Amino acid sequence: MRRSIVAGNWKMHGSQEQALRFCEALSAAPLAAEVELVVFPPVAYLGLFAANVSQEGVQFGAQDLHPSPEGAHTGDISGEMIADLGGRWVLVGHSERRREHREDDALVAAKVRAALAVGLKPIVCVGETLAQRRADAANAVVADQLRTVLDAVGPEGLVRGAVAYEPVWAIGTGASAAPEQAEAMHGVIRQTLAVRDAALAEEQLRVLYGGSVTADNAADLFHQPNVDGGLVGGASLEAESFLAIAAAAG
Ligand code: PGA
Repeated sequence: MRRSIVAGNWKMHGSQEQALRFCEALSAAPLAAEVELVVFPPVAYLGLFAANVSQEGVQFGAQDLHPSPEGAHTGDISGEMIADLGGRWVLVGHSERRREHREDDALVAAKVRAALAVGLKPIVCVGETLAQRRADAANAVVADQLRTVLDAVGPEGLVRGAVAYEPVWAIGTGASAAPEQAEAMHGVIRQTLAVRDAALAEEQLRVLYGGSVTADNAADLFHQPNVDGGLVGGASLEAESFLAIAAAAG
């Protein structure tokens, strides 16, 4: 049985006060044991999370890391620092990083390797643009993004974290992928790993869907056989909607 993950990506939103309210609400909420909850606040609030989340079931991490363990990289943070603050997870290759910071597949693979080297669990984000989908290239684009990471860390490395399928056209648009579209691409992702290790693909690889997940559409998405939870942006900022989405994965 693959344990579901519901992860919240706050992006560059929030404040100390909002983060504290969120931590208090999460600490007091009844959580389903079969769902792993992970929150990715801005790194500025990681320490606040470490000090104020008092439930076993709630984990947190950072939205990015530098591929080097340390050095002269102004403005960046290392995997070791994230772990030092109590983070267990890290997002890698989010489409906003790929677009705004020109991160390519090779850099994403190097970051995944760096995360694993310090014991962080990477959530590798993959997904096609609308133009790529219209050109019938979506499956090839996503499989290529994943293969570069697989070449770098192997199947065992990949399954230590998770993969998030996030079609770029569905992020922040309110237009989620249809459950069947998500299921089809999650099948492609699982198959890309299965070619190298069928048992790990079937039993251990967790593939999350991301892109306009809400409390209203989460259950339909999460009930697809190849969808193992979600990566939630906007709807993860308030504990109430985040917990409602988590409940849909239970
Ligand atoms: P969204 O973002 O839920 O606001 O669409 C998802 C993401 O980018 O991780």
